[in-house]
Amino acid sequence: MTCVVYPDLAPLPDLPLNPSTETFHQYLTISCDRNGVPVPNTVWTRHTIDPLVMDWARQNISTEFHAMGLNCCGTETGGVGIPHTDRTRNWTLMWVTETGGPNVATVFWQEHEHDVSREPGYYPQSYNNLTELESHVFVPNRWVLINGNIIHSVENLQSVRKSVQIGFWENTDFVKKWTNQ
Ligand SMILES: [Fe+2]
Repeated sequence: MTCVVYPDLAPLPDLPLNPSTETFHQYLTISCDRNGVPVPNTVWTRHTIDPLVMDWARQNISTEFHAMGLNCCGTETGGVGIPHTDRTRNWTLMWVTETGGPNVATVFWQEHEHDVSREPGYYPQSYNNLTELESHVFVPNRWVLINGNIIHSVENLQSVRKSVQIGFWENTDFVKKWTNQ
């Protein structure tokens, strides 16, 4: 099962990407146990994006996306985005503008005795039940398509990771094209 694809798409042009003051908080005060130590979930926020960027995406990426925004993950001192599946999309097209550190890894996991693909909004209780499938360090300013149905975490944050995120359901032509489904 595909965790990550790097689709060959037009680069995002220089458009206004400053986070709006309008924020959708996704912060969950939960943690994931790692060898008996609770790893708290870092702060996740989602911000509306300039309509110009949305228009560009409809013209140059796809009209099929159902959500788009600016995502901030981490705090000024870093943190961990604990393992989860995405709640509001199956696949996320992401354009990282600030990595949050030199070695920030998006790690994909399989929980023992479970399928790789899991239900939306699932948070495993412990790293100790997880086997690492793949680990990716995303570079800035490159499109990457991520399978949000597979448990994933964001590790090694040293500051805030900022990315433009475009959400797709898995039955869209865009996802089928780039994942060879
Ligand atoms: Fe996610």
